[in-house]
Amino acid sequence: MAVRSEREQVVLVTGAANGIGAAIAELAVARGHRVMLTDVDEVAVVSRAGSLGSRAAACVLDIRSPEGWTRAFEAAEADFGRVDVLVNNAGITHTGVTRDLRSRHHRDIVEVNLLGTITGVCAALERMTAQGHGHIINICSMTSFLPLPGYATYCASKYGLRAFHHSVAIEERDGPLDFTIIHPPSTRTGMLEQEMADPSCAIAFAEKSYAPQRIAQAVVDAIATKPVEVVFPPLAGRVQRIAGVFPRLMRRVLPLAEARGLRRRERLLPHPATDR
Ligand SMILES: NC(=O)c1ccc[n+]([C@@H]2O[C@H](COP(=O)([O-])OP(=O)(O)OC[C@H]3O[C@@H](n4cnc5c(N)ncnc54)[C@H](O)[C@@H]3O)[C@@H](O)[C@H]2O)c1
Repeated sequence: MAVRSEREQVVLVTGAANGIGAAIAELAVARGHRVMLTDVDEVAVVSRAGSLGSRAAACVLDIRSPEGWTRAFEAAEADFGRVDVLVNNAGITHTGVTRDLRSRHHRDIVEVNLLGTITGVCAALERMTAQGHGHIINICSMTSFLPLPGYATYCASKYGLRAFHHSVAIEERDGPLDFTIIHPPSTRTGMLEQEMADPSCAIAFAEKSYAPQRIAQAVVDAIATKPVEVVFPPLAGRVQRIAGVFPRLMRRVLPLAEARGLRRRERLLPHPATDR
């Protein structure tokens, strides 16, 4: 089988209308890839793809829908001939502590972040194995290592996604596919704005946040280098990964981090009287 150079990849990105997904699509096109942008928001994704020129196309896809996945792969194959790389990026959150969220909020988070991504991986496994190559990149979260207040079901969906990802990668170790999982920290997108509006998510502001373009750089680099797992920031992320294993330690440390997050969030909030 011919090895494709980095410039020849066809990349399907979910949740590509906004935030990290939009940044991934933009950078991938800039690096010479061809990109099928997909999103549940059809108007926004068509407009985003339209701004990226002829190496980009758009298709509506709700990642919870198996039929939607079939249509998205078919659209990419019709426009670009194949899908070499799937970037499973779409995700949601509903802010609030567990007892305050409605059961439909808890279900939504799991249905999109975990079941939707699983549905996409299953669709890709079949099609990419049939074509003899493929790279599945799942965008997860540092919360997959850390039990965070204000994020219980979101954390659970990402813990679950990480376990699923690595289990499948091991199942498929003798097959033709590559697997990468990438864990962004707080990233300045619509999701973080949503969290800014709710003090129960203050922990998100305890550490520095990243621009979506920085996460996109790691993702698009991974198309060529195929790392197994990427954490952010590289050193502190490794410490967090280990710390999350110890719940007693977390119970001591996290309230301090949460208090710092509350202070930093307060500074970041717009203050109409002084901002004029
Ligand atoms: N922003 C952060 O701080 C942060 C941190 C860690 C991980 N992440 C993860 O990064 C990924 C992207 O997040 P973001 O911050 O760019 O979010 P965002 O809210 O800015 O964008 C998410 C995109 O996904 C789309 N989407 C939502 N539900 C969908 C569905 N069912 N099917 C298809 N598309 C859907 C939305 O329309 C939107 O365009 C998510 O998986 C998120 O969990 C984000």
